[in-house]
Amino acid sequence: PRIVRVALLGAGSVGSQVARLLLEQADTFAQRAGARLELVGIAVRDPKRKRDTDLPAELFTDDAETLILQADFVIELMGGIEPARTLITQALESGADVVTANKALLANHGPELFALAERVGAQLHYEAAVAGAIPILRPLRENLAGDRIERVLGIVNGTTNYILDRMHTKGDSFEESLRIATELGYAEADPTADIEGFDAQHKAAILASIAFHTNVKLEDVYCEGITGVSIDQINDAKRAGFVVKLLAICERAVEASGTESVSARVYPALVPESHPLASVHGGNNAVFVESAAAGSLMFYGAGAGGVETASAVLGDLVTAARRHVLGGPGLGESMDANLPHRPISEVDTRF
Ligand code: HSE
Repeated sequence: PRIVRVALLGAGSVGSQVARLLLEQADTFAQRAGARLELVGIAVRDPKRKRDTDLPAELFTDDAETLILQADFVIELMGGIEPARTLITQALESGADVVTANKALLANHGPELFALAERVGAQLHYEAAVAGAIPILRPLRENLAGDRIERVLGIVNGTTNYILDRMHTKGDSFEESLRIATELGYAEADPTADIEGFDAQHKAAILASIAFHTNVKLEDVYCEGITGVSIDQINDAKRAGFVVKLLAICERAVEASGTESVSARVYPALVPESHPLASVHGGNNAVFVESAAAGSLMFYGAGAGGVETASAVLGDLVTAARRHVLGGPGLGESMDANLPHRPISEVDTRF
């Protein structure tokens, strides 16, 4: 059987789940990808550190550069700009395809990395960079490529949604809600990025760039976090029939002169209780898309979390590996062949 060699950079909450699933689901992935996805190594800063996983110790290395040279696919889950940027550049230049979840890197250096990938004929995939498990970037870029997207409204940060939701529904304090969101694993290593809106700002730049087929720079996204939102403001909003949500708003605007522009901004917004985004609770994310032909669409689910985000990373990997091996997605051949079909008489009316 063919073998696709996969190198993993980073073994944090997402990386360790990706590694575990690659090993545990090897047969399933082999069937879907048309080749065995062999994990050749995991690059981390300190390979000797005691980890809370059962991953084989011999996979760990601190030599990311050598590991990359052994791989057909490189999965970058270290986060941050450097050394991720240098390593992804090296991977693409060596002819490897790359899967990343790195929103900071894409929001700051996306165009140059995409240009490089195109130049060397490699693939760069990044579905997991925005809204974790939720398939949103590929739908915007591919499924809606024949439509005209007018506006994207996103709840794209789980930590702040968790905090605002607890303040609204339980009357809990900001500090207490942040503490629990951190315990649940939603927050960034430094939660400043969450509560000041920077995490959502990065995601807004990526969403707007893809939705409007342009390059929206990070510094052009207005950003206001939730640290100034008081429980009194939340209660006032509630009495008036609104829910306070940290929204990433990306929309087309038409200037008085008739020229079109794109606006992207992040701030705590008043969402009417009747809007679907008002019922996005806890650490969940949702992206509400308004388009000319398809109308309104909402994508909803887990926007953070290790195993949830690993789903998006592995989806990119399996799809890309299949294209790499067979030259196309070939849906028919990738269907699991052996599942029995349940007769209609047994199907309940409830789900
Ligand atoms: N800290 C982020 C969040 C993680 O709370 O949504 C996912 O990017």
